[in-house]
Amino acid sequence: MGIRAETTDGIKSDDGANYRQNIPVGVKIIKLNKSFGGNYVLRDLYLEVIQGETLVIIGKTGSGKSVLLRHIIGLERPDSGEILINGMDVNDPEVRKKHRFAMVFQSSALFNSLTVSENISLYLREHRLFDDESTISQIVSHTLGIVGLEGKENNMPSELSGGMKKRVAIARALAINPDLILFDEPTSELDPMMAQTIGEAIVNLRKHVEVTQIVVTHHVDLAFYIADRIAVLDQGHIIEVGTPKEIDRSTNPLVTKFITTQFEREEGGRRL
Ligand SMILES: Nc1ncnc2c1ncn2[C@@H]1O[C@H](COP(=O)(O)OP(=O)(O)OP(=O)(O)O)[C@@H](O)[C@H]1O
Ligand SMILES: [Mg+2]
Repeated sequence: MGIRAETTDGIKSDDGANYRQNIPVGVKIIKLNKSFGGNYVLRDLYLEVIQGETLVIIGKTGSGKSVLLRHIIGLERPDSGEILINGMDVNDPEVRKKHRFAMVFQSSALFNSLTVSENISLYLREHRLFDDESTISQIVSHTLGIVGLEGKENNMPSELSGGMKKRVAIARALAINPDLILFDEPTSELDPMMAQTIGEAIVNLRKHVEVTQIVVTHHVDLAFYIADRIAVLDQGHIIEVGTPKEIDRSTNPLVTKFITTQFEREEGGRRL
């Protein structure tokens, strides 16, 4: 099931050969090592992401969260170790034939000279996933609806707030009907209200699409709100993985110290 399954307005599974059934992927990372110029960033890292879950990776600044995300999407090659997508190596060309990945970058990375609609549909047009304009505009308005930005098709990015831009970036990711979405710091640089809106948008996605989500953040507040499971990255290792409840009750001093410090920073422990 993908976006289409929720859609009764004409975006059918047989509309265009490429608008295919999406299959949420599972990710398995085995003994991943990566260093830059002799500095180890990831060391013998193990992590499993279950199909269809929202896994949040938290950790201190500089702990390697973005480097780990870049490996999962195949933008970075490991020194050693394996990253398996439904059992296949991430760099196996077959993976890209079978699965679609989308990444929501920290900066939103919208094209300022294009409208919201053009930003969302750019990939669909460039890859000629659809030829007819009515399907493209249905996908654009459907994905904007999912992120709560109905009717913003013709706005320019400069007319939008930071939180709205992030939501357009999420809509753009959704438009390709991905099997895996990666978010790098989706709430950084946003005020708490905007951060809450983004958190709600991410939670809301699960009601509309079946997709595996990996979210990197140092906002533990957000992590506890959106995660099925949380993984804590420290010194190149995942030191603990568990449900928010399990992480909250962790007895690992590194985990409890990180979480307590972060909650204190994030407005005295207020949770979303
Ligand atoms: N291309 C690169 N070349 C050299 N060093 C790098 C490169 N990319 C990352 N690093 C280093 O790897 C370490 C981890 O970086 P990374 O960006 O993954 O941290 P992070 O956990 O995402 O931090 P933040 O929370 O600040 O975003 C840092 O010390 C960084 O300087
Ligand atoms: Mg980062």
